[in-house]
Amino acid sequence: MAPFAHARVDLDAITSNARLLRDLAGGTPLMGVVKADGYGHGILPAARALVAGGATWLGTALIKEGLELRRAGITLPVLSWIIPPGEPVGEAIGADIDLGVSDRAVLDTVVAEAARLGRVARVQLKADTGLNRGGVGRGAWASVVEAAARAEEDGLIRVTGVWSHFACADEPGHPSIRAQLEVFHEALAVVEKAGLSPEVRHIANSAALLTLPEARFDLVRGGIASYGLCPIPDMDVPGLRPAMTLASKVALTKRVPADSGVSYGHRYVTKEETTLALVPLGYADGVPRAATNRGPVLLGGSRRTIAGTVCMDQFVLDVGDDPVRAGDLAVLFGDPTENPDVPTAQDWADVLDTIPYEIITRIGVRVPRTYVGGS
Ligand SMILES: Cc1ncc(COP(=O)(O)O)c(C=O)c1O
Repeated sequence: MAPFAHARVDLDAITSNARLLRDLAGGTPLMGVVKADGYGHGILPAARALVAGGATWLGTALIKEGLELRRAGITLPVLSWIIPPGEPVGEAIGADIDLGVSDRAVLDTVVAEAARLGRVARVQLKADTGLNRGGVGRGAWASVVEAAARAEEDGLIRVTGVWSHFACADEPGHPSIRAQLEVFHEALAVVEKAGLSPEVRHIANSAALLTLPEARFDLVRGGIASYGLCPIPDMDVPGLRPAMTLASKVALTKRVPADSGVSYGHRYVTKEETTLALVPLGYADGVPRAATNRGPVLLGGSRRTIAGTVCMDQFVLDVGDDPVRAGDLAVLFGDPTENPDVPTAQDWADVLDTIPYEIITRIGVRVPRTYVGGS
């Protein structure tokens, strides 16, 4: 039985986005970022579609995401970068996952696990160049690099990469971008002086990939843009195709008189006699409750706005006198190149004062992902 609601993922769109990103980055190798279940698209299908488009690295936040790629038989280099205490570092070493090392304690754990296993761990040292989130701070950088160089000499690790992450790449021209690049160059000089020769140096996310050629180095990390969304809200990137469409069949319709309060709290009141259409997706499915009286939805050929409160499992649209019926498809967001009337994840982000990342990564587990395209 076909699902009444689905997040349809166009794998060919992901593949073509990867190709486009490689072209836009002047052929710089691409790391497809597939953390958070491939930004909600499904980690394995997304990874395979990215590889088909030329990605030669994959990036995950968590080791368990990296291990999932390995278990599926993906042998490409994988970098995993959030490593709180107690994470399966030994398993990651055994699976040849590159470990993003953001402080001395993590380095020590990796070195100890490598010694225990008798295997060379692949390590990518992360410099905090000004984001002040993950990464080794400037004060500790030289000593962490020295410790890594000693461990490499001892045959316990191989420093395969040095990398960092921007704070404001999505605001082209922001002064922190230049400042971070400068600090990154200094960090690289320390690495070189220590006698290390990493295979890849990288700092660019999608926004930097699209706007900052001098940030490409040896690898660019394409996350959101791989899924067809631009991290810079007003920027048009011709050829980028949003890969996910979120839609549901209407569950029922009913006529109600003027002055009818709709949904919890009666936050919407009908102006005249009208038809209400019930869409069975709610905040448990990733439709934010903040979309109450705001979220745009395409139904019956017209864009509507959610009428009243978004509930856990459902919301309502006021379709006036339009001949909408149970079973008709309501599209919350999708690819406007397929249909210019369809709202985008960016439209949702705009009305909710957030970013499209949050919209696509929070689709709930009740919504089946269905796939088109791909080989
Ligand atoms: C360290 C790191 N690199 C790369 C990315 C990909 O960023 P984007 O999705 O903006 O391309 C992220 C995502 O948040 C990240 O945390």
